[in-house]
Amino acid sequence: MHVSGPTSSRWTAYLGLLSALSAAFAPAVAVKEHDFKKCHQSGFCTRNRAFADHALAATSWQSPYSIAPESAEFKDGQYHAVILKTINDSGDTVRLPITVSFLESGTARVTVDEEKRQKREIELRHDSKARKERYNEAEQWVIVGGTALDTAAKVDYEDKTQLTVKYGPSSKFEATIKLSPFSIDFKRDGATQIKFNDQGLLNVEHWRPKIEKPAPAPESEKQEGESSESAESAESTESAKAEETKEEEPKGEDESTWWEETFGSNTDSKPRGPESVALDISFVGYEHVYGIPSHAGPLSLKQTRGGDGNYQEPYRLYNADVFEYILDSPMTLYGAIPFMQAHRKDSSVGVFWLNAAETWIDITKSKDSKNPLSLGTKSKTNTHTHWISESGLLDVFVFLGPTPKDLTAKYGELTGTTAMPEEFALGYHQCRWNYVSDEDVKDVDRKMDKFGMPYDVIWLDIEYTDEKKYFTWDKHMFADPIGMGKQLDSHGRKLVTIIDPHIKNTDNYPVVAELKSKDLAVKNKEGNIFEGWCWPGSSHWVDAFGPAAREWWASLFKYDRFKGTMENTWIWNDMNEPSVFNGPETTMPKDNLHHGNWEHRDVHNLNGMTFQNATYHALQTRKPGELRRPFVLTRAFFAGSQRVGAMWTGDNQAAWDHLQASIPMVLSQGISGFPFAGADVGGFFGNPGKDLLTRWYQAGAFYPFFRGHAHIDARRREPYLAGEPYTTIIAAALRLRYSLLPSWYTAFRHAHIDGTPIIKPMFYTHPADEAGFALDDQFFVGTTGLLAKPVTEEGKESVDVWIPDDETYYDYFTYQVVPTAKGKSVTLRAPLEKIPLLMRGGHIFARRDTPRRSSALMKWDPYTLVVVLGKNGAAKAEGDLYADDGESYEFEKGEYVHRRFEFDGARGVLESSDFEGRDCATKKCAWMDQMREVTIDTVVIVGAPAKWAGKKTVHVENQGRNWDARIEYTPAAEGRAAFAVVRKMGARVGTDWTVDFS
Ligand code: GLC
Repeated sequence: MHVSGPTSSRWTAYLGLLSALSAAFAPAVAVKEHDFKKCHQSGFCTRNRAFADHALAATSWQSPYSIAPESAEFKDGQYHAVILKTINDSGDTVRLPITVSFLESGTARVTVDEEKRQKREIELRHDSKARKERYNEAEQWVIVGGTALDTAAKVDYEDKTQLTVKYGPSSKFEATIKLSPFSIDFKRDGATQIKFNDQGLLNVEHWRPKIEKPAPAPESEKQEGESSESAESAESTESAKAEETKEEEPKGEDESTWWEETFGSNTDSKPRGPESVALDISFVGYEHVYGIPSHAGPLSLKQTRGGDGNYQEPYRLYNADVFEYILDSPMTLYGAIPFMQAHRKDSSVGVFWLNAAETWIDITKSKDSKNPLSLGTKSKTNTHTHWISESGLLDVFVFLGPTPKDLTAKYGELTGTTAMPEEFALGYHQCRWNYVSDEDVKDVDRKMDKFGMPYDVIWLDIEYTDEKKYFTWDKHMFADPIGMGKQLDSHGRKLVTIIDPHIKNTDNYPVVAELKSKDLAVKNKEGNIFEGWCWPGSSHWVDAFGPAAREWWASLFKYDRFKGTMENTWIWNDMNEPSVFNGPETTMPKDNLHHGNWEHRDVHNLNGMTFQNATYHALQTRKPGELRRPFVLTRAFFAGSQRVGAMWTGDNQAAWDHLQASIPMVLSQGISGFPFAGADVGGFFGNPGKDLLTRWYQAGAFYPFFRGHAHIDARRREPYLAGEPYTTIIAAALRLRYSLLPSWYTAFRHAHIDGTPIIKPMFYTHPADEAGFALDDQFFVGTTGLLAKPVTEEGKESVDVWIPDDETYYDYFTYQVVPTAKGKSVTLRAPLEKIPLLMRGGHIFARRDTPRRSSALMKWDPYTLVVVLGKNGAAKAEGDLYADDGESYEFEKGEYVHRRFEFDGARGVLESSDFEGRDCATKKCAWMDQMREVTIDTVVIVGAPAKWAGKKTVHVENQGRNWDARIEYTPAAEGRAAFAVVRKMGARVGTDWTVDFS
């Protein structure tokens, strides 16, 4: 057992559990659910749910929030006003400044702050050093573009009760702001899509001083004390008012969690008192909502207020080390992206709730046709969402679509898109906790070769260090890390080492000594260095919110500092929620303090991203002049993390249902702007049976991030150990991934350019086909037209694939024409060796068909183009291929190849042109020079027309040169489509060419 001995009961339980489970691990271990809060154990969640219950039950509920008419001004694309929150029957109010910004992109943004906190006119309890404002720096971490104001936005209508602003492309969008009670309707083409505060659940818990409950003191004394206080300060005036108006909140509201809150053995001191923000957001006529990862549940989100098949709990976003997570649950996981898409036939809209504090989201759907919300819309279902965050600003972006692609593009414009990864990162990653020595690593490396299993990266988990001191090596077991790195490098392979944010609190460890002396660690509520427990035992946490901490962090990765690393070493950031074994909910106390004295409460969900970001930038400055795209894997994430690496879904189990759950989880990441995602292949905890392991590799070959990983107590399961027939089948899955790498890389290019997901669910690719909206077990890959449906059930030898359209579909491996009908499912045979994978007519995609040991070794290989013809071979097919040097930033200067391929069935011509219409023939494109000799060697035409029978050659024209290439035609037979193969086609990939089949 290599686990150090943390004292928390959770980990004692964990260790006990592990030892109790012998080699025959039963994966049905339940999550320690009671370690994590339910809504009723979270004060602000309970209060806001109670507020909602009160509002929704009341016959004449009126939201107490109204805009002060005299405060309102619309100018240069922005509406500024003050919302007055009425807090008692006497009409006392609290001022909440609101800004509605209309952005050039067509996105609208609604930001609500609180004047008293903004002006710091509040008192903190317990002598807290925390900031007084509502946290207003989330945007500095998250938003990277798309905020230019739409100065063409204009007020279209205004009277005393409301105003309507027209904005967005061709002024198709409208926002009607109603003053009293405050609400906003967002419309597209005249139809309401999204409503804010329609249910009246807007709630901004304003600052108030704590009124000590009248101790059993005489009434007269109490009044005396209060009036002398009220003479002293403005705050005290407020106190007196608050005292008078203790009944200001809806009846039944419980103050017991306003001032402090206890969960388990931790008490949160809450120096600013209650401060939650909440809002109802209704999607009018929308039945499906997606997004808000990460949760282990279906892609189309469930209702959360009970009822058949629904959840009882709201979806929760509070990054946490959930240990063994349960499936089909709204429970929080390791990362949080508060972005939601709503979809109905032919329309997508969405919101992004920019708040990094703990957040809960209730979802309900109403089918009531009498509901005025549903009038005039095609669907009678409305989805109501109730967003509740513990602190910070209320800051929401509104996207009006109309397509899913518009949603991911606009969201990507704001928060950034997937960093273009190095090409190796799309290969297969071999990990386990742990490879025990450099010899072990070298042995695995050799064995993968021996068994013909391509891979790119081998990983070192925490045991490579000297007693969990990051940036050190266990010198005994890893005597020669550079020798190990060089062996890997000889085949273009990489090493990823883990570096976690907890820094061991021990003597003779320069890293912790510097962390302390430079004062760069997270602090506790008293402002002293925070100490907690993680893998190394007692630890401190680097505070990556601070620029000095990030600069110091970067210094640790220099090659002469982190000795034993070299150019092919990259990094894995784990436990960055942060995981604190003895902390509340296995994380930091909320009253801890970060850089700038922001409370941990305000920034919790951002924490993991700031750490990954620090590592990412550190890796760019390891050596002067060396600038390559870093690879950093993270477990915790937030909106924007996509800009700095990949994520995985954390500690899953070696169980069929976890394999199944991984697919909607990875799809959800994709439509939420962070598509570089995968799950531990094989399952982290436990020992997969060989069938499960094999099926998992077949599914994992379709995760954008493809890594096998295993817990320290799991048996070794490097894929070559599986034995026949498994080894051969797994090798085939790995090779399939490698042969399709050009297409995966092209999909990443699209994700990088405009935020398009890499694997796409049916609602995304077929937004008009309602029967596909809830499907989350099949998907298309990039622009390839490849439709995959991995087998995720034990013993299954067939799958039913839903066919979204009336295109022709072919089996990827056999070219069998699949007997399909639009909107119907087709059953495909899928014995263990078979991955259900179809090719959709009308697409062209690229492969590299020579099997090699790693992606680096394939760099100059020729390409194969697969042209998949639609009905009767007459239809058009198209596709694209992106390639660059796979590692540097030269692509940002235009040094890449991006080709568009089009096959015109009527003319019988296949043509390659620059995807962006660039002219590399006359203008120098440096990368093109390197690619000069790389050709399209083979063209496979699936569904080739019968008239090609007997054809011996096709005519190729490339850069003024002409030649004939051989073609072999194979006629259709027994359900298999006719196909033709052009060999030694020989056109240069980076240039314009045509092949004439006529
Ligand atoms: C966490 C990670 C897991 C890793 C382990 C040891 O549980 O999720 O992937 O192997 O820590 O570092």
